[in-house]
Amino acid sequence: KKKVTLARLAEMRRRNLPISVLTAYDYPTGQRCELGNVDICLVGDSVAQVCLGYDKTTSLTLDEMLHHCRAVARACKTPHLVADMPFGTYHVSVADAIRNAVRLIQEGNAESVKLEGGMDVVPIVKALTTAGIPVMAHIGLMPQRAAALSGYRVQGRDAQGALLLLHAAKALQDAGAYGMVLEAIPHKLASLITDTLSIPTIGIGAGKGCSGQVLVWDDAMGNWTGHKAKFVRRFANLGEVAAQGVNDYVSAVQSREFPAEEHTYDMHTGEWEKLCS
Ligand code: KIV
Ligand code: NA
Repeated sequence: KKKVTLARLAEMRRRNLPISVLTAYDYPTGQRCELGNVDICLVGDSVAQVCLGYDKTTSLTLDEMLHHCRAVARACKTPHLVADMPFGTYHVSVADAIRNAVRLIQEGNAESVKLEGGMDVVPIVKALTTAGIPVMAHIGLMPQRAAALSGYRVQGRDAQGALLLLHAAKALQDAGAYGMVLEAIPHKLASLITDTLSIPTIGIGAGKGCSGQVLVWDDAMGNWTGHKAKFVRRFANLGEVAAQGVNDYVSAVQSREFPAEEHTYDMHTGEWEKLCS
């Protein structure tokens, strides 16, 4: 299998080949992405909710992200591997942002980093890309800002908001971003941004006009029991399968139907008799 490089992603954008992105949080999900020909594997800070049980992404620390990133990196060799910069790791200063991004590359074994923000993060994106750290931008709905924005809301629904997003998208591309997540924005605006930019856009709740699509693993695989956003489609029902498996296991233990003979070991011939004599 051929490694998905940034050059390959740029080529896919040029040739209008759809880019498939899935989040992964550990070795087995990374393995699924590897075996399933996913183009980009994202260790998203959504790990905070779907794996760690926090109620918001802002609870996630850099050390926690690094732990998950390393696990995914052990499995995920062919897809491009990008890691989210957790809340607070690129907000203090440019120097601090570089230091933390370096940790994601060096200790987390990520190949690039993703960070949320518009015009405000342009200097950070510029500094990181200048240092040779590829950056994926992320505009529209920004979960790390849910508290500041009073919830998870679709962005860019009015002309003024849409124009701000378009300008931010261009500035982030100019700052050196190699790609951009567009989250929960009207599909016409996402198509306009995609047509305006030369780098690939990766949509989530942004319609079919984007260069690629991303979904959270647990949403896409039906392993998440919380809120289901309008933009989510379930491609599998892992949660139901696992629930049934747990029920069957407990019943089998309670009825002593498990373990059966094929799950047990025998002593060597004659040894049991010796023991009993
Ligand atoms: O954290 C995440 O999973 C993300 C994707 C939904 C884009 O940022
Ligand atoms: Na994220």
